[in-house]
Amino acid sequence: MSRFLASEEETAAFAARLAPLLEPGTIVYLQGPLGAGKTTLVRALLRARGVRGRVRSPTYTLVEDYPGVVHFDLYRLSDPEELEGIGLRDFLDGRTIFLIEWPERGEGVLPPPDLTIRLHPAGSGRDLAVEAGSPRGERIVKRLAQI
Ligand SMILES: Nc1ncnc2c1ncn2[C@@H]1O[C@H](COP(=O)(O)OP(=O)(O)O)[C@@H](O)[C@H]1O
Ligand SMILES: [Mg+2]
Repeated sequence: MSRFLASEEETAAFAARLAPLLEPGTIVYLQGPLGAGKTTLVRALLRARGVRGRVRSPTYTLVEDYPGVVHFDLYRLSDPEELEGIGLRDFLDGRTIFLIEWPERGEGVLPPPDLTIRLHPAGSGRDLAVEAGSPRGERIVKRLAQI
């Protein structure tokens, strides 16, 4: 499915609809250039899931974790093998939701995605496309298309 998100508020509204559809263990890749709005979408998703307080972008730490959710930003990852050092394996318990920015940097080590979300600047807004990578992802995309 695809959508035009005219403003940050529309991105947040989309995230609020997506949040309850993410089952435990869902793997989400977020792709798009710097400034596309990936972290904005993740922040709104975490808020919609009830995360309070500051949501920090893991630009330097590569990873920030929350109850039931882990957020990676792999922009600064130089080698996919480094993912072991930041505890990737510990989060792969089948219950933790993964939200991964710059997944292409972790190719070969990351689990495959249930959902790939692509964001692209379009005028003053963003084009959004969501693609399923598994039966679980297909269920989510089907439900997103209905709302
Ligand atoms: N749908 C949108 N329309 C317009 N601006 C947006 C939208 N979504 C996010 N932004 C803006 O884009 C900027 C960069 O967002 P960010 O989430 O940091 O990007 P990324 O994580 O992809 O590098 C922020 O200033 C944010 O307010
Ligand atoms: Mg970001």
